[in-house]
Amino acid sequence: MDVKTLKLGVIGGGAMAENILRGVLASGLISASQITVSDIQSRRLKYLKEAFKVSTSLDNHEIVSGADVILLAVKPQNMKVLLSEINPVTDEKKLLLSIAAGVKSGAISQGLSGKGRIIRIMPNIAAKVLESASALCLGPSATGDDLTIAKKIFEAVGKTVVIDEELMDAVTGLSGSGPAYFFLIIEAMADAGVKAGLTRSTAQKLAAQTCFGAAKLVLDAGETPAKLKDLVTSPGGTTIAGIHVLEKGSARGIIMDAVEAAVNRSKELGK
Ligand SMILES: NC(=O)c1ccc[n+]([C@@H]2O[C@H](COP(=O)([O-])OP(=O)(O)OC[C@H]3O[C@@H](n4cnc5c(N)ncnc54)[C@H](OP(=O)(O)O)[C@@H]3O)[C@@H](O)[C@H]2O)c1
Repeated sequence: MDVKTLKLGVIGGGAMAENILRGVLASGLISASQITVSDIQSRRLKYLKEAFKVSTSLDNHEIVSGADVILLAVKPQNMKVLLSEINPVTDEKKLLLSIAAGVKSGAISQGLSGKGRIIRIMPNIAAKVLESASALCLGPSATGDDLTIAKKIFEAVGKTVVIDEELMDAVTGLSGSGPAYFFLIIEAMADAGVKAGLTRSTAQKLAAQTCFGAAKLVLDAGETPAKLKDLVTSPGGTTIAGIHVLEKGSARGIIMDAVEAAVNRSKELGK
């Protein structure tokens, strides 16, 4: 399948679908003329048509019949009904990409009576600024070529990794829930800046850019966080004084506990 000519159907034109549309269109990977979106809310369709010049439909059968690749972007609780609705028009020629949190590819396959090729993806909210951390896994009948197409689509909204599906709960606890941990850290650092005399907007800008810069160094410099930390902790300096307080408060253990709690909660919800 060639990305330049494939037909993409999107079912559920909500927040995440909008982010993905913005990314694939901005990257030039797929053009608006290749895309049709459906939603049960005509208000959303009107908006997406105006914003992105994509085609729209209120009919999910039309979406599946006319597409090679179908992005399932409804809430997890709406998936069961959606799958039974599109089951009659699904066949092995259709590649289905599901971003529904916690819905296993086996359950999707079951809902489609074993038809269709399935890939499951867990993006995160930073897709909104094209900086998602997205994990992809191969589901029933999906091929390596299918994975290549799915990766290209999600690389348009950030970075991707490929994992085994059994690790999806780990991803959910780490990068799915992760942005919220950093929002909390940025807020706390900004509070500290305000306490030390900075204005709220200056403190917030400095805290957020510091977080962003540190992440970029880890991603781009190819160094471990430990080595980078050592580079900025000069003997008897300010940074090691701050690190000492973090270590005394078990910051590492608390962060690990938080991710572990989210992983366990994801496992519980998936039962
Ligand atoms: N947002 C995130 O940060 C994020 C991160 C990772 C994964 N996800 C996953 O992405 C999926 C979408 O999330 P979202 O935040 O974009 O949700 P959303 O904004 O609620 O979008 C879903 C849209 O689908 C519509 N819809 C419901 N049933 C439908 C059907 N049968 N046919 C067509 N459209 C239908 C909904 O309409 P109504 O509102 O009227 O129901 C809504 O407009 C979820 O499964 C979520 O787990 C989201």
